[in-house]
Amino acid sequence: MSISKKRLHVITWGCQMNVYDSARMADVLAPLGYAPADAPADADMVILNTCHIRDRATEKVFSELGRLRVVKAERAAIGQNTILAVAGCVAQAEGAEILARAPYVDIVLGPQTYHRLPEMVAQASRAAGAVIDTDFPVESKFDFLPDDAAAQTAGGLTAFLTIQEGCDKFCSFCVVPYTRGAEASRPAAAVIAEARRMVAGGAREITLLGQNVNAWHGVDAQGAPSTLGRLLRELAAIPGLARLRYTTSHPRDMDDDLLAAHADVPAVMPFLHLPVQSGSDRMLASMNRKHTAADYLDIVARLRKARPDIALSSDFIVGHPGETEADFEATLVLIRAVGFAQAFSFKYSPRPGTPAAGAPMQVPEAEKDRRLQALQALLRDQQAAFNAACVGRTLPVLITGPGRYPGQIAGRSPYLQPVHLDGPLSLVGREIPVRIAAAHTNSLAGEPFMDRVAA
Ligand code: 5AD
Ligand code: SF4
Repeated sequence: MSISKKRLHVITWGCQMNVYDSARMADVLAPLGYAPADAPADADMVILNTCHIRDRATEKVFSELGRLRVVKAERAAIGQNTILAVAGCVAQAEGAEILARAPYVDIVLGPQTYHRLPEMVAQASRAAGAVIDTDFPVESKFDFLPDDAAAQTAGGLTAFLTIQEGCDKFCSFCVVPYTRGAEASRPAAAVIAEARRMVAGGAREITLLGQNVNAWHGVDAQGAPSTLGRLLRELAAIPGLARLRYTTSHPRDMDDDLLAAHADVPAVMPFLHLPVQSGSDRMLASMNRKHTAADYLDIVARLRKARPDIALSSDFIVGHPGETEADFEATLVLIRAVGFAQAFSFKYSPRPGTPAAGAPMQVPEAEKDRRLQALQALLRDQQAAFNAACVGRTLPVLITGPGRYPGQIAGRSPYLQPVHLDGPLSLVGREIPVRIAAAHTNSLAGEPFMDRVAA
């Protein structure tokens, strides 16, 4: 295929992993001549990168496809072809069903097959009919992504790096083990090489990604399985890399080595997203979480011992099948015991094919609504209290760019709070101490920074 100038538009739904995957798909298509397009109407190829984890994901995909069909028809009327691809977890879960309901789609590809995208595009452009690839190949897709992928899309001060994919935990409510497949870890050397390229491209903060990131056990240089704690130490040694984060973790995989990394590695940020889902042992068992509320509280205590300034974030589900008022109260008790800086909470939504979807004793929608509101009110109060407690503290802030108003700069705290302050743009890219003057709902205001360090 000749390399002519073409335009690609990617629509991304869902988690950071999908954001990362969208960037990688853009990378593998760049050698075919695809440059970014701002809107589907300007694009020769549109990729819909989907998420299946909650709500009516499939219906959302079909209604977006309906809109894209119109765009495709309008472009066809002026003699322009548009390749339409559906990627991500809905593609994995629905596969051929997508082509049956939306025959104008050209490519359906699951998350494990992005490296084969150029080949699929070539097939689709030869008009050989729609292409579908949702296999779980034995070889890892990581092995096939171009080496300079990071260098092409990075350049940001904060970067995401996928180190692990898939999950073997099979929580009762979750589609991830079915859509993303078995747990697979990328080798340490590949992760470190990509991190080095990201830092060379300007990254100061890297967030390691994986559906079950702390289960990472990629091989080390000797071919033996390593641990996330060790990987964090190795990454922290990269000159110029100031901050490390990892998400999303499972409580079962918070091992001693990882806890020790929180104590010994200053680059590991004192903020951890550690989903608990429920505070009721009965619910945790029926969710197949493989930990109790006490296990979670014990991990939190050990994390706080390792790193006294650590703050926690979590995920909660209300209204999992069989959840009683007493189970729900137990979740509130756990939340009060921990004190979260931030959290995400969801009403249980049945995902076809998961064990909980067919379970008896589904909780009525109105009851789920009531519980979610009560839970979110408590979590909002905790977030406000955490932000308020930052006032008067001096926090290291990574300055990422200009603020909203002239003379302002913006950055992020160790706790991922946006921080705004008066200061010169020459500070962009630096981590500076900022005294927090005020707290708003979702951000902090810092005192003006007087730059006394010679530039
Ligand atoms: N219903 C509601 N929430 C869900 N999550 C995952 N699956 C479901 C579901 N079926 C939530 C969990 C998970 C987060 C990413 O999404 O809390 O941690
Ligand atoms: Fe889903 Fe997370 Fe449970 Fe894995 S550990 S099944 S990704 S909720």
